Amino acid sequence: MYKNRCEQTLAWDSLKNNYQKSGFSFDLRKAFLKDPIRFEKFSQSAPFIFADLSKNYLDEESEGLLFDLANQTGLSSHRDAMFSGHPINNTESCAALHTLLRFPSEKISQLSTEYGLRDKAQQACDTLTSMLLFAKSVRDDLSITDIVNIGIGGSDLGSKMAIHALQELTIKGKRFHFVANIDGYEISRVLGDLNPKSCLFIISSKSFTTQDTISNALSAKHWFLRAGGIAVEKHFCAVTNNLTAAKEFGVHTSFPIWDWVGGRYSVWSAMGLPLAIAIGEVGFRSFLNGAHQMDEHFRVQPITQNLPVRLGLLDIWYRNFYKFTSRNVAPYSSALKELPFFLQQLEMESNGKSVDSDGQALTFSTSPVVWGQAGSSCQHSFFQMLHQGSDVTPIEFIAIKKSGHDLVSHHEAILANALAQAQAFMFGQENFDNHKKFKGNIPSTFLVMDDLSPKSLGSFLALQEHRVFVSGSIWGINSFDQWGVELGKSFAKDIQSRMQTGILVGLDSSTAGLLKILN
Ligand code: F6P
Repeated sequence: MYKNRCEQTLAWDSLKNNYQKSGFSFDLRKAFLKDPIRFEKFSQSAPFIFADLSKNYLDEESEGLLFDLANQTGLSSHRDAMFSGHPINNTESCAALHTLLRFPSEKISQLSTEYGLRDKAQQACDTLTSMLLFAKSVRDDLSITDIVNIGIGGSDLGSKMAIHALQELTIKGKRFHFVANIDGYEISRVLGDLNPKSCLFIISSKSFTTQDTISNALSAKHWFLRAGGIAVEKHFCAVTNNLTAAKEFGVHTSFPIWDWVGGRYSVWSAMGLPLAIAIGEVGFRSFLNGAHQMDEHFRVQPITQNLPVRLGLLDIWYRNFYKFTSRNVAPYSSALKELPFFLQQLEMESNGKSVDSDGQALTFSTSPVVWGQAGSSCQHSFFQMLHQGSDVTPIEFIAIKKSGHDLVSHHEAILANALAQAQAFMFGQENFDNHKKFKGNIPSTFLVMDDLSPKSLGSFLALQEHRVFVSGSIWGINSFDQWGVELGKSFAKDIQSRMQTGILVGLDSSTAGLLKILN
């Protein structure tokens, strides 16, 4: 488990010194001139992914100190604790075993029985089998043309992003809709277009108490019955840890998810049902297998050759020493346009915390803001600010080597633009006219996925999960709870009841004033 506070390690002090000595004035252009094999030194292969870290403010000394930091904070033993099922999510007294969801069934007997690991793997395996069987029955049922996932956060973003990414591989004749937002526009726009006889609603909610999801599910059910729908049990199913509530709702087919699977880590579980319907059993198993290969890379590779570790350490270097406040994600693929939303929740809900896992205040910054948009669209939006604005923002480019379409010149163009932008951010441009000057020296990481297959995507998402684990672990925080979402929920309950009663007593004058205007 996590042992030492990162800011109390020798490595932390050494990194501070390194930053003062050479880090703050690091010049990428000079670094490349100085070292002809810089690209080789700072690039790394992992399953289905190649990563070029060479355009970052790293040299062998600083990266070496980051590896020291990983060792001195006990990263490897924390990682092993996660894989072994130790209840590392201590504030919710549970394990974080999303890796078990993609563990090969034929190896389950080799797992330890400690922490019920083997039993959990078997539960996951059995649920996967029944979920995939159900997905097949939906795929084969020609009368079902519209699949509506009702869920929010981790019960929405994973399948939505992956189905968009893998669209060329999705079943023809079925449309996929995602209803997350409690705003009535969301569900009414989806329902407006549907016929109750041809819909399958999937209520995806681990807790089955999330207001957004339950309100949308109730509205869907009312619409279904009003529109002449019969057999709620055929047209509604659920994925939840609260099987009783799902049954009370009227759902007969439910797939379980367990407390040891966090919402934002759940696309691998039955929460991936929309994706499984879309890409079928072979595709979904391949998605899991890709992730498992990345799990193995993370679990066994030495930290110096471990991509999630190197990315997570780079995140620490930038956040705590350079004090960069955000990281831009630029997937150069319109198929990955939902990815920034997924990564935002993954990182910011996991690591947006100011206390360590024991509840002790942290004296340093944690999660950066993660934001982005698919390229090339991003170039015509906020790239101006990244090139010539006042702050430095590290950028993570994501490119797909082999395209899934046959428009060769488009594929060439998207890759050329990604490479060119990374180059332009590094080199900048001198000019007598200050308006046309680019300071350059803006760091970027360049990730290359082999293709947009379920396997590569699975590996890529597991990579992102583990790099978030790495930075969270170094910071000593519990990356698997999300208490920060609770306060607003309880305030909303109070305000909604005041909307009905009109009682404003006890409210601050701003909220009371706004409520009068809005109500
Ligand atoms: O936003 C908080 C959160 O708990 C997320 O972590 C989760 O993914 C989402 O709400 C949905 O929760 P549930 O699946 O319980 O409806």
